Amino acid sequence: MVLPHQIEQKFSRIECEYAARERLAMHGLKPRKKILLYGPPGCGKTLGAKRLAWSTGLTLVKVRFDVMLSSMFGESASNLRTIFDFCMKNPSLLLLDECDFIARSRVGQKDIGEVHRIVNTLLQLLDDYDLPGLVVATTNISDQIDTALFRRFDDVIEISKPGPEEVLSILKMTLSSINIDKRIDWKKIVNTMGEVSASEVVKIGENASKEVILNGSKTLTESHLLKAIKDLEY
Ligand SMILES: Nc1ncnc2c1ncn2[C@@H]1O[C@H](COP(=O)(O)OP(=O)(O)O)[C@@H](O)[C@H]1O
Ligand SMILES: [Mg+2]
Repeated sequence: MVLPHQIEQKFSRIECEYAARERLAMHGLKPRKKILLYGPPGCGKTLGAKRLAWSTGLTLVKVRFDVMLSSMFGESASNLRTIFDFCMKNPSLLLLDECDFIARSRVGQKDIGEVHRIVNTLLQLLDDYDLPGLVVATTNISDQIDTALFRRFDDVIEISKPGPEEVLSILKMTLSSINIDKRIDWKKIVNTMGEVSASEVVKIGENASKEVILNGSKTLTESHLLKAIKDLEY
């Protein structure tokens, strides 16, 4: 995955500390284990969590709160506890994906019994359990993140939309299996895209590649890319 240098460094630090957890423990230190990733949709929060699972060798255990709340109404608090118990015995990367309602400041929010209860249970579990693996929570909420939530995490990382450099890297990565016209003005392409999410860049690259393959052309040209950008706008 493509990340700006600063964010990449934060991911590497999590990986390094996890790899060195035994050495750290000999000095009474713990690796950073509880990570909160926030930022706009489609920019690598879930992908980032998967990357951490892959790089640490931990099994990914994914919890979807929206599903949990709707399908197991009344039991979600105890279900959450069961999941934490599982992760205590089986070192995992516990992914608490899309917990927007947890991240939103609870101040001023109406007290909806079950939601309130699960938020409190989660905060309590995060405090009580010293899980052997990692916990990664993600949310699309960027402002008004509950300060009580911030405190629970060892690292809070904002994954914002990619800048021009990252957009170009993601695009070229997506096009890596296609023959590319050397005359493409990449700067123009990136400018035309404007403000996009990483997943939109991937879509543009994939759609342009498909066009090349399906039309039997041998090379991807600027016009393939411009058309894919235009198509995405509708
Ligand atoms: N930083 C990135 N580098 C490369 N591809 C990315 C990046 N972020 C997102 N993508 C692409 O967009 C898709 C959706 O990203 P995802 O991590 O699910 O977004 P979200 O932040 O909403 O969780 C990924 O499967 C991947 O194809
Ligand atoms: Mg996601």
